[in-house]
Amino acid sequence: MLYKKTAVIGHPVDHSLSPTIHNYWIKSLALKIADYKKIDVHPNSFSDEINNLIDQGYYGLNVTVPLKELAYKKADRLSDVSKATKAVNTLVFKSGQIFGTNTDPVGFESSLSKNIIENNIKNKKCLVLGAGGSARAIIYALDKMSGKISAYNRTKEKVAVLKKEMKINIETLDAIEINRKLEEFSFIVNTTSMGLSSGPQNDLVDFSNASKNCFVYDLIYKPKETGFMKQAQAFGLTTQNGLNMLIGQAAASFYIWHGVNPEVSADVIQTLASD
Ligand code: ATR
Repeated sequence: MLYKKTAVIGHPVDHSLSPTIHNYWIKSLALKIADYKKIDVHPNSFSDEINNLIDQGYYGLNVTVPLKELAYKKADRLSDVSKATKAVNTLVFKSGQIFGTNTDPVGFESSLSKNIIENNIKNKKCLVLGAGGSARAIIYALDKMSGKISAYNRTKEKVAVLKKEMKINIETLDAIEINRKLEEFSFIVNTTSMGLSSGPQNDLVDFSNASKNCFVYDLIYKPKETGFMKQAQAFGLTTQNGLNMLIGQAAASFYIWHGVNPEVSADVIQTLASD
């Protein structure tokens, strides 16, 4: 008998790579687990759909855009990381309760090499662009890694709210200050859609002002190289996209549900993802 039914829910959810990743592990580890599905859930029927999926015997769900905050509200019990980030990307249905946590911060941390954490983040100035749900996850992780955080958001008030709610010491910068101070940063992370090939282009950060050792990270993984990353590379900076973070958060969810640490191989997943 197959057990522990899992899926990702989102709206839309078609684009999600999570089934590719989870099903790869389920097959390669030869676990007796049902195929990981993707299910489109409309925000308006979120609560009913969750109850429905519990009735269908689901054990766990990944939650993606735009449902992470609804999942946070729906959960009976929340992990500390979910409370801090006000988001749930992983649900577990156990003992008649809905447990919610957020594996995005640990996914982000696990995507970084020890070298980058030691030399570019720990006690170093880190610039976060954006103040949405993803930014909260990144700020949570950077703070845990002892980064000194500065943040910019198009809507400045959102940084103030985030700062107050997360109780983390964050320097708030405007667009002019960013470029005036850019040289001070050893890590820059973009959590906005700015720099997506289909989205608005980055005219905020002028990488000519960056320190040569600055590491530039973009949470987007499709395309593999965003406009934001290409602009940074043009000034000789090293960049990383969000694919390993996606895999890292998936691995952490997989462990929560199945008690198995899957082997994380970005190359394999990249091959599968480009099919
Ligand atoms: P996510 O969960 O991916 O973080 P979100 O919570 O909707 O999504 O947050 C999106 C972030 O991208 C926000 O910081 C948003 O800025 P605003 O708060 O001002 O809306 C930012 N963003 C989206 N489009 C942007 C653009 N064209 N230029 C700059 N920032 C943008």
